[in-house]
Amino acid sequence: MRFKGKVVIVTGAASGIGREIALSFAREQASVVIADIALDQAEKVAQEAEAAGGKGIAVKANVSSGEEVKGMVQKTLEAFGKIDVLVNNAAWWPVKYFMQQSEEEWDRQIKIIYYGTLYCTRAVLEHMIERKSGVIINIISDAGRIGEPTLSVYSGAKAAVNMFSKALAKEVGRYGIRVNCVAPSLVETPGAQSFIEKIGKDRLVRAYPLGRLGLPKDIANAVLFLASDEAEFITGQTLSVNGGYLTVC
Ligand SMILES: NC(=O)c1ccc[n+]([C@@H]2O[C@H](COP(=O)([O-])OP(=O)(O)OC[C@H]3O[C@@H](n4cnc5c(N)ncnc54)[C@H](O)[C@@H]3O)[C@@H](O)[C@H]2O)c1
Repeated sequence: MRFKGKVVIVTGAASGIGREIALSFAREQASVVIADIALDQAEKVAQEAEAAGGKGIAVKANVSSGEEVKGMVQKTLEAFGKIDVLVNNAAWWPVKYFMQQSEEEWDRQIKIIYYGTLYCTRAVLEHMIERKSGVIINIISDAGRIGEPTLSVYSGAKAAVNMFSKALAKEVGRYGIRVNCVAPSLVETPGAQSFIEKIGKDRLVRAYPLGRLGLPKDIANAVLFLASDEAEFITGQTLSVNGGYLTVC
């Protein structure tokens, strides 16, 4: 029960990896804010979090709106009184070659992935700096470390989050706040389903030395480790969780 009494915000937690992260914290008796644009789904996850042994509330928040993000943080503080952990997980990505993407699609990706991370981070930092404690974990992607065709704008936005995280870790370490990234490769989630179907799962799996694609629990396990006191001396780092698909120095 590493997170008993801890308060955790997970964005994009109504589905896929975010949902599993939220439920994994709840299983360790954390109070979890399930923040998402899909409120009905988020409410179901909040119920699952309660059933798993934690506390859960659903909050409708579009992370690409600074105002909605402020509201999310306000609701968290009203419900639970503090914030220990923020997981910036919400994202959206069209799988298309760069020349097929519209400017609206660029905007949407960059606003959710990069601005969303900036808005959420700023909103919780005001509170974390005052308390001189906190953990921020940003879910990036191996695409943001090596670049993936058909995910060029997404790769760039994730790379921006990666470098922002490293710089921020150096700024806020003196307040006892840690900032790290987790980088999945392909994970079986609703968001990745059309891509997996398009390329074919058997073909994709061949690129994974451990012989399977990622599962949401693989990512959640890494996030909980980085959020825990076991990782108290780890900040400014990026952990790829990918079955050996990508190995970087
Ligand atoms: N699935 C993969 O293969 C994979 C690989 C690498 C990285 N990732 C990263 O993992 C994270 C989760 O991906 P997933 O596969 O679980 O995605 P998903 O599509 O299954 O879930 C994403 C969630 O984010 C929510 N969301 C979308 N826009 C939002 C917004 N503006 N504000 C708030 N919530 C919003 C959606 O409603 C959804 O519930 C993302 O950051 C993604 O980039 C996923």
